Amino acid sequence: MVVPKHLVAVVDFGSQYTQLIVRRVRELGYMAKLYTPEEIGEMVDPGAVILSGGPRSTSEPDAPDIDFERLCSFGVPVLGVCYGMQLLNIKTGGTVRPSNRREYGPAALIPEKSTGLYAGVSPSSQVWMSHSDTVDHLADGCRVIARNSEGVPVSLQWGKNMFGIQFHPEVTHSHEGRTILRNFLSFASELAPFDIGDFKRELIDEIRSKVGHRQVVCGVSGGVDSTVLAVLLHEAGVNVRCIFVNNGLLRKNEAQEVEQNFLRMGVNIETVDASERFLAALSGESSPEKKRRIIGSLFIDVFWDAVGDAEMLAQGTLYPDVIESASNAKSKASVIKTHHNRVERVLELQAQGKVIEPLAFLFKDEVRALGASMGIPHDILWRHPFPGPGLAVRCPGEVTKQKLEIIRECDAIFISTLRKWGWYDKCWQAYAGLIPVKTVGVKGDERSYEFATNLRAIVSEDAMTADWVQLPYDLLREVSNRILNEVKGTNRVLYDVSTKPPASIEWE
Ligand code: XMP
Repeated sequence: MVVPKHLVAVVDFGSQYTQLIVRRVRELGYMAKLYTPEEIGEMVDPGAVILSGGPRSTSEPDAPDIDFERLCSFGVPVLGVCYGMQLLNIKTGGTVRPSNRREYGPAALIPEKSTGLYAGVSPSSQVWMSHSDTVDHLADGCRVIARNSEGVPVSLQWGKNMFGIQFHPEVTHSHEGRTILRNFLSFASELAPFDIGDFKRELIDEIRSKVGHRQVVCGVSGGVDSTVLAVLLHEAGVNVRCIFVNNGLLRKNEAQEVEQNFLRMGVNIETVDASERFLAALSGESSPEKKRRIIGSLFIDVFWDAVGDAEMLAQGTLYPDVIESASNAKSKASVIKTHHNRVERVLELQAQGKVIEPLAFLFKDEVRALGASMGIPHDILWRHPFPGPGLAVRCPGEVTKQKLEIIRECDAIFISTLRKWGWYDKCWQAYAGLIPVKTVGVKGDERSYEFATNLRAIVSEDAMTADWVQLPYDLLREVSNRILNEVKGTNRVLYDVSTKPPASIEWE
């Protein structure tokens, strides 16, 4: 993985918000990377270090620790958040008072001065607390730089550039958290703003040196990650084979559009049309989980048949996947979904050093920025997410050609209308699906008995939660009129007004 020098090293003590610290630092224009406390030996020239919060108490005998001498040896600014602050206090000679009650929620932050870490911060600012222990004695040379409304110290400073805060600046409930983080980073003179163009050049150098003259195989779906990856490999000038599997569960004209898009960008792709194989394998199956398994395992067969003997494989794995699999491995949590990026064949190739994942350090928005810097058109970079099992998860029950045809037509009408009205980019995801219930209607002079269609449009940040979009009634009316007039096989249109949770975004 290419890691820029002088980045912000975020040491993870297990808080649920640690990933957010990384995100916030990146939003402020600097690079940040997550490390476990044991990985401090791997840090090379960090520009600043942030010690995260965590659920444990520093008084527990096996509480997570840090090599403080090494931390100080970097000579860079350090910020301890909650657990991180308590650890710093102990390491510098102070003490922490354990408590078995957790204080959780909003609190007032009252800085002693509006300079330094609190430059530009209001005299009383709302912050978000989540802690049980509190600092007790302070070591010599440690000063209190902010208190809560009861006068209890909630922020400390040691020397010129080591700070502690008893609240989470990374959550939006801490109203001026962003300013406080920005102030902290302003102490880091070595820290250079992250430049996606420079990073791209480093990625390309790394790809070239790892790949050499070997051929790289890359699976593409038309989605953002695999497209950016394919274009990056192409730009690196390596010998790349892009393989696109048409599983017959794609949207209207999607296979042709993906091929045209790649043509537009000057990258060759090989399409493997396995539609009939997928439909045959799904025939008669209506269990959502079994459908997913059939599609997942057939995809692997079809893809690897097409690949043959791979000299190297490139995958569009992103940083959230890396963090997630690292924390799963650490917590030994049961892995709910086996991602196709981690199937046996891939793990074998990985053990032989034949897998490259050039995007593994980036979040989605950074992948988009990288794509834009290589001239990938906006409409490709901002396509709505589309699930791997495709329309099968939008077609509850058995998947048939007829049902897929109805979904394709309705979806094309819905999406083109959203675009026409300027609502496509305002929705995080939108689609039409089929409700496998036939109802009676009248079409022309005849009685009809046809399926219902479901329209879904949501906004979300990360797909973990979602809200339905308040689309204008006139837009919905236009979509419904067109579907009822133009699409054979459906005589009813419903708009899904379910939030996630408890519903999910897809119907299966
Ligand atoms: P749900 O339905 O779980 O969807 O609320 C959350 C997001 O994930 C997408 N999705 C998938 N993507 N393979 C994928 O690559 C899948 O099996 C899959 N299932 C759901 C869904 O479209 C939404 O964006």
